[in-house]
Amino acid sequence: MMIARGLLQAGARVIISSRKADVCAEAQRLLSEFGDVQAIPADLSRYDECQRLADLVKAERLDILVNNAGAMWREPLETFPAEAWGSVIDLNLKSPFWLAQALLPALSRAGTADDPARIINIGSIAAIHVADSPNYSYASSKAGLHQLTRVLARELGPRHVTVNAVAPGPFPSQMMASTLDAIGDAIAAKAPLRRLGRDDDMAGIAVFLASRAGSYLTGAVIPVDGGIATTASGT
Ligand SMILES: NC(=O)c1ccc[n+]([C@@H]2O[C@H](COP(=O)([O-])OP(=O)(O)OC[C@H]3O[C@@H](n4cnc5c(N)ncnc54)[C@H](OP(=O)(O)O)[C@@H]3O)[C@@H](O)[C@H]2O)c1
Repeated sequence: MMIARGLLQAGARVIISSRKADVCAEAQRLLSEFGDVQAIPADLSRYDECQRLADLVKAERLDILVNNAGAMWREPLETFPAEAWGSVIDLNLKSPFWLAQALLPALSRAGTADDPARIINIGSIAAIHVADSPNYSYASSKAGLHQLTRVLARELGPRHVTVNAVAPGPFPSQMMASTLDAIGDAIAAKAPLRRLGRDDDMAGIAVFLASRAGSYLTGAVIPVDGGIATTASGT
């Protein structure tokens, strides 16, 4: 929602996607205040669904792909279940690859040497430092996504597509609701910038990466975390 709003306010036409049709419709309604937005429900943890979404989108002019959908599974080591690997890796790591692969022809058509098309992968600081709570498959999937970002950046640069990752720190969202309800104040108090992420912090980095100002960056993993992971002492 933060990124979609930012891109809409910057003048982009935006297509959003997640699994639930009613949530998609409500998000489209809320975002339409800011510009031209369309929602297409899809289960992006599935290869066939990524293909279906790509088929619906690729006839349009496509300048920017934001791979944002993600899932987290927190559970102690002893009871961490086998299914907490497949589902998390499918959505957080395979799906950005499948969508980049399927949408590459459309992105390549839109990109030029002067103004490349953009892929923005949403990673996590969980793949930069080691978080306090156990998130084995999540942290591993995001580390994979950061490296996939660099691998694709090298290959797609000559095809006029930049590939960068944003590694957010703590931002209020459904995924983070219980954590931030419980220890949000403590997290903010320990952060060098003494607060959680705000909507504009996330909108701003996406707009920057998608804009003319971001056209000479590729293969970067950019932490937007108030200094939490970037200044971690390891103690
Ligand atoms: N918030 C933070 O502090 C934080 C920190 C670091 C990284 N991140 C990353 O930021 C991204 C957004 O997370 P968030 O914090 O905004 O969490 P969120 O509120 O849980 O949002 C996750 C989004 O992914 C969608 N999604 C989940 N499973 C899906 C599937 N199988 N197919 C399609 N869409 C699916 C969800 O919609 P449906 O459930 O309706 O499908 C929802 O729109 C994630 O990649 C997350 O890892 C967030």
